[in-house]
Amino acid sequence: MKKGIILTGDRPTGKLHLGHYAGSLASRVKLQDEHRQFVMLADAQALTDNAEHPEKVRENILEVTLDYLAVGIDPKKTTIFVQSLVPSIPELTMYFLNLVTWNRLKHNPTIKLEIQHRGFGEDVPAGFMVYPVNQAADITIFKADFVPVGEDQLPILEQTTELVRKFNRLYKKEVLVEPKALLSQVARLPGIDGKAKMSKSLNNTINLSDSADDVAKKVKGMYTDPGHLRVEDPGKIEGNCVFIYLDAFATDVEKVAEMKEHYQRGGLGDSVVKKYLLEVLQALLDPIRKRREAWAKDPGAVMEILRKGTDVAREAAHVTMQEVREAMKINYF
Ligand code: TRP
Repeated sequence: MKKGIILTGDRPTGKLHLGHYAGSLASRVKLQDEHRQFVMLADAQALTDNAEHPEKVRENILEVTLDYLAVGIDPKKTTIFVQSLVPSIPELTMYFLNLVTWNRLKHNPTIKLEIQHRGFGEDVPAGFMVYPVNQAADITIFKADFVPVGEDQLPILEQTTELVRKFNRLYKKEVLVEPKALLSQVARLPGIDGKAKMSKSLNNTINLSDSADDVAKKVKGMYTDPGHLRVEDPGKIEGNCVFIYLDAFATDVEKVAEMKEHYQRGGLGDSVVKKYLLEVLQALLDPIRKRREAWAKDPGAVMEILRKGTDVAREAAHVTMQEVREAMKINYF
């Protein structure tokens, strides 16, 4: 018996990194055993701010799918699919757009922040402005009960819930399901430079596909406590990336606690802590890297997994869409 339906997705605009792993990939691997899970490559959403570079989105369809397979998302258990090839999603989006005001869209905190980051000013692409409504359609067309996301996505889930309630109330049928966010246990992973977020545009990521050498270089250069100049000095662990990463990925909690204590007391050098972090990360990333390399040898097979997954998703979405049309009384014949 499955414990409910899960839908998540990623914009295919770059390779996935440790932040994605801690934030959601690891939990997807666990959740796929007991839930009906859909994982979506949100290419249409990616195009809302990459319309000039469709090739960037296209390239990353394969890269992100390789990342999924590498971490252990199993296509026998999880339906992996491409958003733009499921026409019921934009169809439902059109009807949802009538249930939300322009003013509400403008005040979505996620969108406000992203508009700032992208420097759109007044010239926000209309498609970008409405992507939360499109995302609501992604989620509800599969009747998802749970959406594993990072905190930054909560305002979008809130808007989804509003749309579901409005739809069900207006059309007097409990067709659509209110989704719940599944927040990751790990706080957001900072970049290796200590900036709040690991992000490709900031060039501060450790990618799942990075070579062992690259990971070693990145860990060596990682931001720690800038005031910790000599080994004897007491060091700070707050905001110290090396310890934040150890908290996120090391399984030997006692050892980490001991190191933290020693570091704060003084006498534990950054290089020792970094060496341990590197061990932890290589142990995590080695098998991922190996699986990725194996799949990468057969891109045809990977694309076939996507094609099959997309067929399954398209059919599931179509079934909901018919219920939607019926509830709206626009199922003419
Ligand atoms: N907006 C999400 C992100 O930027 C990607 C996404 C698109 C998504 N559709 C979704 C996530 C549906 C969860 C559910 O990461």
